Amino acid sequence: MKLEKTLVLLKPCTLERALMGEIISRFEKKGLRIVGMKMMQLDDAILANHYSHLVDKPFFGILKASMMRTPVVAMCLEGVDAISVVRTITGSTNGRNADPGTIRGDYCMSNQQNIVHASDSPESAKAELNRFFCPEEIFDFGTLNIPRLYAEDEI
Ligand code: TYD
Repeated sequence: MKLEKTLVLLKPCTLERALMGEIISRFEKKGLRIVGMKMMQLDDAILANHYSHLVDKPFFGILKASMMRTPVVAMCLEGVDAISVVRTITGSTNGRNADPGTIRGDYCMSNQQNIVHASDSPESAKAELNRFFCPEEIFDFGTLNIPRLYAEDEI
């Protein structure tokens, strides 16, 4: 099957605003399968790796602090082309510019308190899933629901 896996984090702002269920529901309704999910408290070490491309940015300190304010929910979502589909659903980084209908466009006003993180490429999805999940925390759903979600020639 041509299924991809990608990482989504529900950020502390999402937990604080009691939006977790609503955001999870959007991914579920789209037809993405949640094949891993857990709540975890992030620390300096994991955030230095996760945001290594941003360590020199002036906002890195407040970004890191904002990601440690509460636990986050880490999810592994699975589907055909899941990485690009989830990025499209997520919308542009800055909620003020994100298109209506996207998660960031519908739920936030911020460039940083922007509801979710989503992997941006196959390489980062692989690295990020390894960073946030042990192999045994990601489940094999087999063909569950696949015939209802896709045509035969899509999988
Ligand atoms: P980035 O990887 O550029 O965006 P995305 O989350 O859309 O993949 O940035 C990672 C996070 O860094 C972003 O979600 C929020 C934060 N950030 C800021 O706080 N200020 C900024 O100016 C930018 C570009 C990002």
